[in-house]
Amino acid sequence: MNVVLLGPPGSGKGTQAERLQRRTGLIHVSTGDLFRKHLGEGTELGVLARTFMDRGDLVPDEVTVEMVRHRLGEDDILRGVLLDGFPRTVAQADSLADLLEERGERIDAVVLLEVDEQVLVDRLAGRGRADDNPETVRARLEVYRDQTEPLVAYYDERGALRRVDGEGTVEDISGRIEAVLQAIDNPSPSKC
Ligand code: AP5
Ligand code: MG
Repeated sequence: MNVVLLGPPGSGKGTQAERLQRRTGLIHVSTGDLFRKHLGEGTELGVLARTFMDRGDLVPDEVTVEMVRHRLGEDDILRGVLLDGFPRTVAQADSLADLLEERGERIDAVVLLEVDEQVLVDRLAGRGRADDNPETVRARLEVYRDQTEPLVAYYDERGALRRVDGEGTVEDISGRIEAVLQAIDNPSPSKC
């Protein structure tokens, strides 16, 4: 099963993916975490990514897709992935569909975490990652609206979108996501 966690900065994609990885055996793949790993190791990719991340802009699609292609080719991806922060543009979504098709796979569900904007801002203000200063958070939210939100309609049209209330306790939200994923894994028998 391959699942995309979609949602604005601070919506809890990373928090929920960590929990779901432990409970489902799906592998958590976060493009933000991969870029931060490169950054920490001082690779060429990390140096390039930083110039975009510091401004809250997206790293170019080709670079991001190549990194994901490489990650999905690693041996630990057996039962599927929980993609966190990818795709983030329609071009990335198209590339992901191609990438999975090459493997004879597809996206089984796109879980949209819905959270009020003021809650997002408060959550990120309380965390303190390098790109959590108010100016960059504003830019990240704007980039989400402009470039990533169109994916809501994109996946809705393809029948994959599942909306989940992303407010409340971490445990409550996990429960909602797990219920959504279980329904996909065990579809109720058709009535006819
Ligand atoms: P990325 O690392 O993906 O950041 P983001 O999408 O802005 O999201 P965050 O990681 O801030 O939020 P989250 O939804 O994971 O929430 P979290 O669980 O951490 O991307 C960073 C940058 O990398 C981008 O700006 C871009 O430059 C680049 N990049 C990444 N992917 C890319 C791509 N595909 N294409 C191009 N560029 C890309 O939670 C947030 C906080 O809230 C935490 O402190 C958490 O403890 C808290 N929290 C979580 N849940 C709850 C809850 N239920 N109640 C209270 N607090 C909660
Ligand atoms: Mg995250």
